[in-house]
Amino acid sequence: MSDAMFPPIPRPEVQTLRMSKIREVANAGLGRDDILAFWFGESDQSTPDFIREPAARALLDGRTYYTHNLGRADVRESLSTYLTGLHGTAIGVDRLAIVSSGVNAVMLASQLVISPGDRAVVLGPSWPNVPEIPKILSARVEMVTLEPAQGRWRLDLDRLMDALTPDTRMLILNSPNNPTGWMLPEADRAAILARCRQYGIWLVCDDVYERLTFDRPSAPSFLPLATLEDRIIGTNSFSKAWRMTGWRLGWMVVPPALIDGLGVLIEYNTSCAPDFIQEGAKAALDHGEPYVASVRAELIAAREQVLAGLRAIPGIEAPQPDGGFYALFRVAGCTDSVALCKELIRDVGLGLAPGAAFGPEGEGWLRWCFAARPEKNAAGLARLAGFLAR
Ligand SMILES: Cc1ncc(COP(=O)(O)O)c(C=O)c1O
Repeated sequence: MSDAMFPPIPRPEVQTLRMSKIREVANAGLGRDDILAFWFGESDQSTPDFIREPAARALLDGRTYYTHNLGRADVRESLSTYLTGLHGTAIGVDRLAIVSSGVNAVMLASQLVISPGDRAVVLGPSWPNVPEIPKILSARVEMVTLEPAQGRWRLDLDRLMDALTPDTRMLILNSPNNPTGWMLPEADRAAILARCRQYGIWLVCDDVYERLTFDRPSAPSFLPLATLEDRIIGTNSFSKAWRMTGWRLGWMVVPPALIDGLGVLIEYNTSCAPDFIQEGAKAALDHGEPYVASVRAELIAAREQVLAGLRAIPGIEAPQPDGGFYALFRVAGCTDSVALCKELIRDVGLGLAPGAAFGPEGEGWLRWCFAARPEKNAAGLARLAGFLAR
């Protein structure tokens, strides 16, 4: 018998973290090669050659050493040029850091501003990492729910305003939102910013889908409204717009006063992003605009295809996403989305993400990542229609 006095268990905050329900569903399909999977948030196409080739060359040239905590100076210059052009306002390198993925950026932003017991507000349903990361740091997290209305997802601005109380430390605003595809209306920005300024609330903008928009080149952003003194942090990623999910590279935009603290935090998290990976990111930033435009064109067609296909199936309600690459839809009578997803795998080999993975607000809904070739989306829609017709 062991004579250890204390059980080897993690902190209470870690024990109460949600397990991924997408993984739970995906595990049910393990070992089967007939699954058509739309459950994860990534394209079915790999990163383009104009990004892969310089990274591969850098690796072969032996560029395998540590880099600056905040990222390579030339990559930050490229990022500054890219963001300045995108937002029509100067965003200098003194506000920029290259970090190890979009999820790492959300963690670093939270580590910068959250102390134990702080109150954080997030929108739901939500990609689980957004509410769970502040909880790791012992924050209290409050959810403001997005609702479907007239075929779109809507934010009740008054409800968000009510949630932004004087004791709120941080609002994480993910727009376009995963999983709903809701996009913050341009006109809502001023009121949110004014409230954050009034109470000193940190506004963390998770903008990883900002280039995946259907009727404009990028989503409404707070960056053009931000002064250098504003408590605004942008978190972003190379994953989605340039199809670089497996590269694990992202960036942050912070007030200049935060950049030294951020560099220290990066040192203690990952120390730096790999040199040869950053070589690929530089190519994406310097030469990627035509490619991003082509990704957007493909997604516009895919959204039409999947939305029309879902809406043609009796019993399905599918609000229109305004950005991102997900359709979150409801099947009449579904109250257990995990069970339904497992049935879909078992019976017709269709892999979808259960809405419950995105919090209780998502229960009854299913998420389809439509960043797939048209023939794959079509085959998936046929399987879903066949299953529901039985
Ligand atoms: C809302 C949101 N933020 C951030 C990320 C993180 O992206 P990555 O860590 O791949 O850069 C994701 C990925 O799915 C996401 O959906």
